[in-house]
Amino acid sequence: MRASVLLAKDKISIEQRPVPALAADEVLVKVSSVGVCGSDVHYYKEGRIGDFVVEQPLVLGHEAAGTIVAVGAGIATDRIGERVSIEPQHPSATSAETMSGRYNLDPHMEFYATPPVDGAFAEYVKIQSHFAFAVPEEVSDDAAALMEPLSVGIAAARKAGITAGSRVLVAGAGPIGVIAVQVAKAFGATEIFVSDLDEARRQQALEFGATGVIDPRETDIAELNLRVDAFIDASGATPAVLSGLRSVRPGGVVVLVGMGADDIALPIPVIQNNELVITGVFRYANTWPTAIELVRTGRVDLDRMVTGRYGLDQVEEALNASTLSTSLKTIVVPGL
Ligand SMILES: NC(=O)c1ccc[n+]([C@@H]2O[C@H](COP(=O)([O-])OP(=O)(O)OC[C@H]3O[C@@H](n4cnc5c(N)ncnc54)[C@H](O)[C@@H]3O)[C@@H](O)[C@H]2O)c1
Repeated sequence: MRASVLLAKDKISIEQRPVPALAADEVLVKVSSVGVCGSDVHYYKEGRIGDFVVEQPLVLGHEAAGTIVAVGAGIATDRIGERVSIEPQHPSATSAETMSGRYNLDPHMEFYATPPVDGAFAEYVKIQSHFAFAVPEEVSDDAAALMEPLSVGIAAARKAGITAGSRVLVAGAGPIGVIAVQVAKAFGATEIFVSDLDEARRQQALEFGATGVIDPRETDIAELNLRVDAFIDASGATPAVLSGLRSVRPGGVVVLVGMGADDIALPIPVIQNNELVITGVFRYANTWPTAIELVRTGRVDLDRMVTGRYGLDQVEEALNASTLSTSLKTIVVPGL
């Protein structure tokens, strides 16, 4: 099969690779659509994300969908032909984290496009059968691929406790922020404030359901005294985290999704006196059925987020395009 391989920092080329061999519990998926994520760009431009270092050729791409074309020995053959959205993780079956349902925290996790595990910028990928979720006809291939970032938004909204009538602040209107806005609305939030430094991105947030946008360069967000029920950081920017934290009502929740500085000095009295709950989000667990339903019923629109589509031999262009503030989700289509 053809695969787009990151050989070294800034160097990607098409290689011929064997089609993945299947374990008994796996299915083989012919890839139809793969979203580009900021993490793919980091591996491409910097060769690492924190402790994860690209030390051998790596296939990027972890937001993937396709059609099942073969199944392992333990899987019913009637799955062949099914259109699926891939949850791109493979936790160990028996860790304490997996057993408690929080398999995303499994220390033995193998995750697509995270060294040394290959991802989906390829013609075929394998995945455990139960992480290949059937998608209904009305959900497009691109939307099926974007169930992955949607899952991050769902995980964040669940942690934030967003419900009917919630008031929410989201920092950052990149793809994750825009998805967080759509999910907050779908979960019943009635006021959704979004901050971003970039005018085009603030505009995008409004188009996807924000009820108000803020330019943090012009307005001191903490001074607005928003008293929101939940603050979701999807920027990774320290000033955004600090102003967001001061915008939460007593007893409210702070959800840190964005990845930025490793260490931030926090205002302890603000946290203590208001009994704020602060949590991180690390990917997701048990989100795909919800993601598929939100898209199927039109509560979340992923197709409208797609701003560019590229073939397998244009992965570098796709990665570069995805860094423009005017692009939201860039898609790689191996069959293009
Ligand atoms: N925790 C997880 O599991 C998880 C999963 C996916 C992505 N992420 C992280 O979520 C973040 C968002 O992802 P993305 O793909 O949307 O990234 P992105 O870089 O496209 O978007 C970030 C946005 O934040 C804005 N921003 C920067 N400084 C700001 C400030 N001071 N105030 C408000 N906005 C500001 C930027 O202008 C940009 O539009 C990234 O840090 C990414 O690494 C985390």
